[in-house]
Amino acid sequence: MHIKCSKEILKSLDDAITVVTVFEDENVSTMFDKLNIVSKNFSAKENNIEIVTLLENDNLVDLCLVGLGKKESLDKEKLRIIGGNLCKKIKGVFRNKVCKNNDINIINVNLDIEQIGAFSEGILLGNYKFDKYKTKSEAFEEREIDNIIIFTEKEAEYEIEKAKILSNSTIIARDLVNEPSNIIYPKTLAIEAVRLGAEYGFNVEIYEEEKIKALGMEAFFAVSRGSVNKPRFIVMRYFGDEENTDILGLVGKGLTYDTGGYSLKSNASMLDMKTDMAGAASVIGAMCAISHSKLKKNVIAVVAACENALSGGSYKPGDIINSMARKTIEVLNTDAEGRLTLADAIYYIINNEKVTKVVDVATLTGAALTLLGNVATPVVTNNEDFYCELEKASTLSGERVWKMPLYDEFKNMVKGEEADLKNTGGKNAGCITAGAFIGEFVGSTPWIHMDIAGTSTSSKSKGYKSKGATGEPVRTLYYLAEI
Ligand code: BES
Ligand code: MN
Ligand code: ZN
Repeated sequence: MHIKCSKEILKSLDDAITVVTVFEDENVSTMFDKLNIVSKNFSAKENNIEIVTLLENDNLVDLCLVGLGKKESLDKEKLRIIGGNLCKKIKGVFRNKVCKNNDINIINVNLDIEQIGAFSEGILLGNYKFDKYKTKSEAFEEREIDNIIIFTEKEAEYEIEKAKILSNSTIIARDLVNEPSNIIYPKTLAIEAVRLGAEYGFNVEIYEEEKIKALGMEAFFAVSRGSVNKPRFIVMRYFGDEENTDILGLVGKGLTYDTGGYSLKSNASMLDMKTDMAGAASVIGAMCAISHSKLKKNVIAVVAACENALSGGSYKPGDIINSMARKTIEVLNTDAEGRLTLADAIYYIINNEKVTKVVDVATLTGAALTLLGNVATPVVTNNEDFYCELEKASTLSGERVWKMPLYDEFKNMVKGEEADLKNTGGKNAGCITAGAFIGEFVGSTPWIHMDIAGTSTSSKSKGYKSKGATGEPVRTLYYLAEI
């Protein structure tokens, strides 16, 4: 699907579906006489989308009216959602029609350039569907949208370009998450990172087992031991501002599958665990967006990629393991594996890559899902100023975050009895104690932990989301780097 803008004014309706956005109480008659007649019966309530067929110069043409609701209550996130719904609606209409073409003309008179950007982002993201493994039969194949031209006199090229980069990077993350674990496992995830690095312009280095052991990443290695698919440690570097010593560090949880290990998951809760590398996918997607936009910033991302599998070689409940930070850990539950891999990854990125701030992104706890559902990402941090930057980034992306408190009581809940730490903090406050555990490996570097167990997937295809991976928080990470 291609999207671009044009400064010329569309004079007559043609074979493409013509889209017009309408605010409540707005008079749209200035564009076409016919529009005036049609729009009289149209309620411009937010998200109300109607397609009508008109006779124009002896041709039947499609006109799509899109309700934006009240002008004062419209924001960018609402526009993304409307854009996504519009895309889904039009694809549904194309499916049942013999169309001359699958193009869309959007006539813009009432959106400013930032709003055009958000609307475009919503359309591009709303177009996504993970159906590559479905054998296509001609009769049921969903019609694609080929070209979108936004007719506007405003200078919207930059905003549309940015929308393309951000949605493309989000879709890269969605694809990685939606791929099953027999396709994406540590080795192939690393191969994808290398491929994307070459395409978008960041450097990628892959460490295999020997190097992982040599670095002393014993906690990461313990989790990986049970699988025949060997671990990979992926390092991605982008230096857009060589003179500056500031480096933003991103760490993504990269469990390409999580069976739970000996603390085995039930079939129902195991079923979705190919998505346990959504944190990894989001930092890879963010690296694509950052380098594609050539941001004048330095960003390094790492992923400790492995599978939490069950075999005679797996680590076991009760084991005491070591870590790169030389802190010892009692394994109370082999299903609390993410924090073990993250402990080494975050210690590595701070101490070996010398990042000056760090964000970890992880599908870490079912408790995060219980807390905020798939509506917002719970966050734990050791630095208020850094959190304020994340809040700004989140406002720009529309991907919501909410800060949890990190009281000392929570930190004490992960102190070990026979070792320095234990990998679970008991049944209460599970989302925060998981964050507190990672915090033990951070030191004084400004740090943010994002638990995306809820927000990284969607159970419904709605707005600009599709069923399965959402690609959150790729766009927030991009804006955090950009700020
Ligand atoms: N990957 C899971 C968390 C998860 C749950 C992600 C649901 C997405 C949806 C994580 O490794 C896990 O199993 N966490 C345990 C921790 C517990 C054993 C302390 C959990 O949340 O039950
Ligand atoms: Mn687990
Ligand atoms: Zn997990």
